[in-house]
Amino acid sequence: MVSTQIKNTEFIKCLKKQPTSYTPVWLMRQAGRYQSEYREIRSKVGFLELCKTPELASEVTVRAVEQLGVDAAIIFADILLPLESMGLGLRFAQGDGPVLDNPIVNVADVEALPDFDPKDDLAYVMLAIEKTCKELDGKVPLIGFAGAPFTLASYAIEGGGSRNYEKTKSLMYREPAAWDLLMRKLVKMTIKYLQAQVDAGASAIQIFDSWVGALSPRDYAHYVLPHMQDLISGLKGRAPIIYFGTMTNGLLSLMAKTDADVLGVDWRIDLDYAWDLIGHDKGIQGNLDPLVLFAGKEEIEKQTRVILDQAAGRPGHVFNLGHGVLPATPVENVKYLVELVHELSKK
Ligand code: CP3
Repeated sequence: MVSTQIKNTEFIKCLKKQPTSYTPVWLMRQAGRYQSEYREIRSKVGFLELCKTPELASEVTVRAVEQLGVDAAIIFADILLPLESMGLGLRFAQGDGPVLDNPIVNVADVEALPDFDPKDDLAYVMLAIEKTCKELDGKVPLIGFAGAPFTLASYAIEGGGSRNYEKTKSLMYREPAAWDLLMRKLVKMTIKYLQAQVDAGASAIQIFDSWVGALSPRDYAHYVLPHMQDLISGLKGRAPIIYFGTMTNGLLSLMAKTDADVLGVDWRIDLDYAWDLIGHDKGIQGNLDPLVLFAGKEEIEKQTRVILDQAAGRPGHVFNLGHGVLPATPVENVKYLVELVHELSKK
């Protein structure tokens, strides 16, 4: 347990919808391949080894904060690590993204999933969090994270990424009891995992439901929302919670029925319209298209201004991209964006 006093509290205040002196900003995938220092480390160690070596995971986490001047750190790890602990056989194939060699196929596989304790099996994540908090010395708060049950289940069932989620939705529709059990097991594990991250020093939590936008609103409401409500209410009060998804335009008003403090939205919707759908009792995070960082400075400034104007200086807007920084993004544009948000939003 680390109890260092956090110096820059703008991000945490914002998550609690308290007024801030400028709009806090951090970026999903702020540590990654767009940085030459990251590529240098990755030329020596594999991605999973990097996640499992607290010194290195902590180093890349802290470097992103120092390089960019963002208002929050996010622990370097991956949403799929718990699936490895569940025996699904995670590896990252060169250029192909994640592969799970023992995917879930049927009810028996769901029943056989081990009831593991993330505090022990994912101890390396908690060690990385403790080390990172020490290194940051309270400079900015650290975000802990996990995958949401639907997004995790999609990898666990498809055995990797997917376009149409055929296997995932087939199991959901054809074996509703198995689906329900899988969701409940993932919720139980994720509550323990995120609690352990908060105990290790994380000041806020983000739950990544990257692929939930593949569902219709009625299927989301029936097959996923009750589990999201259990997950988020199971964590409520421990740390502020951001619930993020992409392609969620049709789902936002349903996602708002969870106890999340803030919803993260992608760029496929105007921020002001999204906030109306979510309701102003919650905060909002987003929502610049990551591809705008491939444009020139003028375009970046124009689009950043639009988002800040749409947020209208209301408390509870955390600036972010609508999804992660892409590997080919020019570093100088990422730095420019952070400076710009700070400068344009200063009160
Ligand atoms: O800086 C941060 O944001 C923290 C680190 C972080 C990573 N993954 C590091 C990573 C976080 C928060 C994640 C979450 C994650 N992982 C998500 C949800 C967010 C999203 O992007 O939608 C998902 C779906 C995953 C699963 C995953 N991990 C995929 C599909 C891939 C391959 C695609 C890719 O970008 O290469 C990964 C690998 C991964 N996770 C990398 C990084 C930096 C690249 C690995 C490398 O160095 O080769």
